[in-house]
Amino acid sequence: MRIRVLGIGMGPQHVTPEVAEALRSADYVLAPRKSEEDRLLAVRRAVCERYGVALAVVPDPPRDRDDPADYQAAVAAWHEARAAAYERVLARRGGTAAILVWGDPSLYDSTIRLVERLAGRLRADWDVLPGVSAPQLLAARHRIVLHEVGRPVHVTPARRLREAVEAGQENIVVVLGGSSGPSELSELPGLADWTIWWGANLGGPGEELVHGRVGDVLPELAAARGRARAAAGWVMDAYLLRRVR
Ligand SMILES: C[S@@+](CC[C@H](N)C(=O)[O-])C[C@H]1O[C@@H](n2cnc3c(N)ncnc32)[C@H](O)[C@@H]1O
Repeated sequence: MRIRVLGIGMGPQHVTPEVAEALRSADYVLAPRKSEEDRLLAVRRAVCERYGVALAVVPDPPRDRDDPADYQAAVAAWHEARAAAYERVLARRGGTAAILVWGDPSLYDSTIRLVERLAGRLRADWDVLPGVSAPQLLAARHRIVLHEVGRPVHVTPARRLREAVEAGQENIVVVLGGSSGPSELSELPGLADWTIWWGANLGGPGEELVHGRVGDVLPELAAARGRARAAAGWVMDAYLLRRVR
């Protein structure tokens, strides 16, 4: 038995020749269904159709998001429930299964941890192929390098931005913002003079880009976010923040 973790970037247009080859040689793709209109499932379905590989859909176990104090425990329980659901399908079907990961599997995605656990239990071989991540596409769209010459770049979920700024980070990529937009930008003192390169729905319907001084572009950014949501029915955004020195 073999399990292949495949990064698909922001959709079928980013599938690399290496991932395409892995797809053609897989027996099936294993994919979670989070809700009836799971748009990421629709993207996975489109990729499977393009490469002629069967799709095995596994209903995703519900996740308890109510109590942030119990965040780690809730995530661990959810990972275990998802692992058990995948394990049943893998044990029944055998062969080579592929799991398609949005963007790159190395960045804020639990698939690698899940597959590592499953492969141990099922004595399966497994490997990982990379894809284009949201920060890479953000940089490409804005035609920038993520950091100044020889400087570091810090990547963080939005809920830990304050901690990054307080620790002295000056060049910060922010992902996993809240559904109502990057409110942390106006809530954090001192960010108004930083420069932002922001993008929503990168590589997909309703793509929007905004660049400028944080204090100047917040209304423009909110309007662009609204347009992205109106065009696609969903919005995902990421941004680079840089302190002006
Ligand atoms: C769970 S993380 C997954 C990241 C993914 N593995 C990657 O390599 O980009 C999801 C976050 O990535 C960012 N993201 C993913 N797709 C995006 C897109 N098309 N446009 C803008 N940001 C995106 C958003 O910050 C979103 O909250």
